[in-house]
Amino acid sequence: MSEMTLIGTLAALGVSQAFGSPLGWKQTDSGLWQAKIGKPDKVTLLSAAGVPPQKSKLRELGGGKLPKDFLKESSGGTFDGKAWVRLPLEPDEKIYGLGLRLRGLERRDIVRLRMDHFGKNEDQTHAPVPFYVSSKGYGVFVNSARPLTYYIGVGNQLGAKQNPKPQDRNTDPGWDPQPFSHAVEISADASGLEIYIIEGPELIKVVQRFNLLCGGGALPPKQSLGFWHRVRTMADSQEVLNEMDEFKKRGFPLDVIGLEPGWHSKSYPCTYDWNTKLFPNPDDFLVQCQKRGVNVNLWENGGVSEQSSMFSALKPYAGSHTEWLGMIPDYTKTEARTIYSNHHEATHIAKGVSGYKLDEVDGYDVWLWPDHAQFPSGINGATMRQIFGVAMQRALSETFQKRNQRTMGLVRGTNAGAQTFDHVIYSDHYDHREFLCALVSTGLCGTMWAPEIRSANNSEEWIRRMQTSCFAHLAQLNGWADATKPWSYESVAEASKQTILLRNQLFPYLYTAFAQYAQEGKSVIRPMLLEDGGAEIDQFMLGDELLVAPMFAGQKSRNLRLPAGQWRDFHTGKSVGSGVITISPSLETTPIYVREGATIPMLNPVLSIGETFKQPKVQVQIRTYGPQLRPGLLYDDDGITFNFKKGEYSWFTIDPTTKSFKQMSGNYRTKYAEPKWISMSTK
Ligand code: GAL
Repeated sequence: MSEMTLIGTLAALGVSQAFGSPLGWKQTDSGLWQAKIGKPDKVTLLSAAGVPPQKSKLRELGGGKLPKDFLKESSGGTFDGKAWVRLPLEPDEKIYGLGLRLRGLERRDIVRLRMDHFGKNEDQTHAPVPFYVSSKGYGVFVNSARPLTYYIGVGNQLGAKQNPKPQDRNTDPGWDPQPFSHAVEISADASGLEIYIIEGPELIKVVQRFNLLCGGGALPPKQSLGFWHRVRTMADSQEVLNEMDEFKKRGFPLDVIGLEPGWHSKSYPCTYDWNTKLFPNPDDFLVQCQKRGVNVNLWENGGVSEQSSMFSALKPYAGSHTEWLGMIPDYTKTEARTIYSNHHEATHIAKGVSGYKLDEVDGYDVWLWPDHAQFPSGINGATMRQIFGVAMQRALSETFQKRNQRTMGLVRGTNAGAQTFDHVIYSDHYDHREFLCALVSTGLCGTMWAPEIRSANNSEEWIRRMQTSCFAHLAQLNGWADATKPWSYESVAEASKQTILLRNQLFPYLYTAFAQYAQEGKSVIRPMLLEDGGAEIDQFMLGDELLVAPMFAGQKSRNLRLPAGQWRDFHTGKSVGSGVITISPSLETTPIYVREGATIPMLNPVLSIGETFKQPKVQVQIRTYGPQLRPGLLYDDDGITFNFKKGEYSWFTIDPTTKSFKQMSGNYRTKYAEPKWISMSTK
C-alpha cells in the first residue's frame, strides 16, 4: 500500500490528521535538508542564539549521503496543540546524542529533552540539545526551543507498513510487550516544528555540519586555556590577591581567578554591582590582578535584585515570575540585552574583567519559574527554560564582540546555537565517572564541559579528578565551598602541579584543536564513536592525535581500546601496540596515548599562558612519535581579538622531514620561535 493510499485509508477511518503527511524537504546548504511542519515558532534555538550558519565552510565540506528514501519516508503533522515528526528507524539502528549525558551515549525508548540540573534522572541535563546521530550515518536536528519528547522505536502507528505481526500472549511465550516501531517520533507542545536532516555517512562530518549550521565552534582566548581557580564564597579582595600570590610562591600555574558569591553588593538575587565592603576598590583590585597576569571571571545568576542599578531599566522586560524573588528579564529581547550589556561593560569589562560564570540558568525545578510563566517576547516559561542560558551568553558575546575582545566563560545551562559563545558547562553533580561521560558526550552536541575539581575523599581521588579536569575544554578547581587549592592534598601536590603544567605544555596542540572546532566544526573532545564507531564513555580523543583514558580512585588498572593502527605512550614514546590493552599507570600519570607517526606541538612548561604570549618569542617544542612521521598541524593567531575573522591567523604544517613549519594559509605573524625537536620514537 502506498503512503498516500495508507493516509487515505486512515482518513476514511477518521484518523487522518493524527498520522500526518509527507514533508516538503528543501536543501538549505550542502549536506543539510530542512522541513517545516505546521507553523513553527518565531523564537527557535537558532533565532535565540542569532548566529548565522558558516555557509562557505558547509560548502567546502560538500554534500554527503542519506539512507535511501529517508526523506521520502518521513512524515509529520499537527494535532490538538502538538506538532510532531516521524522519521524512519531500522531495527539494528542505534541513536546517539540528544545533549550532554551522564550515563551513556545511546538513546532508546522515550527521551524527554528538558533543561534541568543533572542527576535527578537520566533525562535532565544542562544541555538538552535536540540533535542526534544515527549508526546509519546521518543526523537529525530539531530547531525548536520547546521541550521535546523523542519516541525511539516505541509507539507503533496504526497500520504502519513495517509493524511487526501482533502476537497472541495467550499462546506465544515470546510475546513482546514492546513491539518495535520503525520510527523515531518527535513531538512538542507547539503549532509547528522546523527540522534538519544532516547528511553523513561519516559521523564526524554529521557533527561538523551540525556545528557549522550553528555558526561553527568556540575559539577561546589563549589565556583561558590555562588553569582556572575559583576562590571561596565571601572572599575579600585581599584574600583573592593573597591566593594568587600563593600560586606563584608555590610554583603552581594560574591564568584565571574566579570570584564566587560575595562580590555582588547582594546576591541570590544579584545586583551585578560590587560589594564595596569586601571589594573597597574594585578598579584597583582589577589592576592588581592584571599586574599579576591573571584574568578575572565573575560569578552571577539570572535573578535581578531590586537593589541592582540595572533593575529599573530592565523592569519593562521582566517575566511574570522570579528566581529567588529576583526579576527575570527576557534576554531574548534586544533591548534587555543592551541594558545588561552596557552595565556589564561599563562596570566590569572595561575595567578588566575577562568573563562570567552564568550560574543556575538551568534551574532545579523548584528554583525557576513554572512552565506557564509569561515573558514579554511572547514565550512561555517552558520555552524560556530551554534558552535562558543561551540568551545570557548572547548578551555577553555581543558585548565582547563589540570590544573586539574574546571571552571564555562558564554556564550551567546551554543549548544548540550557542557553540560560538565560548561558554563551558559545569555542574554541582559531582560524580567522577559521570563527569567523564559528560565530557565524552560533548563531542556529539556542540557543547563544552568543565569536569571541575572541588573536593575529594582522599589524595588518590584528588589527583585522578585533577587529571580528568586538565584534559577537558576548561581546567578548573572550584573552591567556592571547600576553599581547596591545587596543593590541598600534600602527597599529590607535586603531581597536581605537574598535571597542570602538562596541560599548559599542550597549549599549541589544544589551541589548534579549538581552531578546527571553530573553523571546521570538529569537536575538540571526540567520543570514539566519531573515530571508529566505538561506544566507550571512559576514553576519548582529544583533537586528531591524542587518546585520553582517565583513571578513577580505587582503580589500579583498566582496559582501554585503541583504534586501528599503532599507538604509543604519550609520556614515554613506547609502543603500546593496538586493540584492547590493559594499563596500570602510576598515580602521577594521566593515561594519554598518541597515534604513531604524529607530531605534537607543545610549549616548555610555563606558569601562565597569558604571560607566555606577551613575550616577543615563544619557544615551542615538537614531540615526534615515529618511525613513519606524518606532517602535523599548528594554528596561531593573536589569541585575544576577533581579527582572525579578517584573515589574521596562520595555519602551519609541521614538516618533520625538513624540521620546519610551512605556512599554509592566513597572514598572522606567529611568535612561535624555531622549534626544538624531541624524538619520542627511540623505543
Ligand atoms: C552553585 C554553583 C557553584 C557555586 C555556588 C555558589 O550553584 O554550581 O559552582 O558557584 O553556586 O553559591
